[in-house]
Amino acid sequence: MKHLLGIEQLSASEIESLVEKAIELKANRGKQIEHPLAGETWAMIFTKSSTRTRVSFEVGLNEFGARPLFLNSKDVQLGRGEPIKDTARVLGRMVHGAIIRTFDQQDVVDFAEFGKIPTINALTDEEHPCQILADLMTIREKLGGWEGKKISFFGDGDCNMGRSWAWAAKHLGFELCIAAPQAFQPAEEFMTRLGSAPVTITDDVKVAAENCDVLYTDTWVSMGKEEEAGARLIELAPFQINSEVLGMANQNAIVQHCLPAYRDNEITEEVLEERQDEIFQQAENRLHAQKAILMALAKAR
Ligand code: CP
Ligand code: NVA
Repeated sequence: MKHLLGIEQLSASEIESLVEKAIELKANRGKQIEHPLAGETWAMIFTKSSTRTRVSFEVGLNEFGARPLFLNSKDVQLGRGEPIKDTARVLGRMVHGAIIRTFDQQDVVDFAEFGKIPTINALTDEEHPCQILADLMTIREKLGGWEGKKISFFGDGDCNMGRSWAWAAKHLGFELCIAAPQAFQPAEEFMTRLGSAPVTITDDVKVAAENCDVLYTDTWVSMGKEEEAGARLIELAPFQINSEVLGMANQNAIVQHCLPAYRDNEITEEVLEERQDEIFQQAENRLHAQKAILMALAKAR
């Protein structure tokens, strides 16, 4: 694995070994003396806001001996129109790796091509692979694994999280059910690209909740969709994770949210607080999963 551009490009065994490594790194945090990125500088180019991704990468890079160089895209020339390929060709000659959060997936792909340094997708409109790896790690910790499990995603099924989950289901073979109103179901073009996968799409919350082991949700208004907020909140309202929906799931089902959470929209305050332990464990796992990603990329150079 030379870059992490999406879950789409990973194999099942790559996902497995990243999750295993993340669990090992979590167990050994603070004990390890290995600094696989000692003396390096990694650029973090962010065009969108971030709490978890930014902090977990900065901490992870520090723990591995590297210096994070945070670049808000508004401050660098990218924000004034310098093409991504030129930015990549400059940074590729100076830094050792790049972590990019932006809108267009193609920008991350182009950066990897022109920068010729390990490149990580820290969220685009298409995918959020770092999040999925932390989620899979949490599912392994809480439920022993994803094998034979039913994972249900409620809400905007065509956003980066819904799409990344679909790729994970295709590679790993667990059952994924996406509950969304028609306008927010994965686009036809995406489903064609996905091809055969154990993914069911429904507009019936009950179908998704019944026999479910993981109830997953995400904001109804992804970054960049703010202008559509009013309509989205109305249309997605029936797809909220609340105590009624939770009551339809399996007895030991867990609730996951990539965060930030908008209480009483995609998830009720009640369910979020009742399940905060598993949701914030998931947030913590971003650090461990991303350290595993950094380590894998360092080894592949
Ligand atoms: N889940 C996630 O990526 O959070 P941030 O937007 O805070 O990084
Ligand atoms: N779908 C959300 C994920 C936030 C981590 C967004 O893109 O804003």
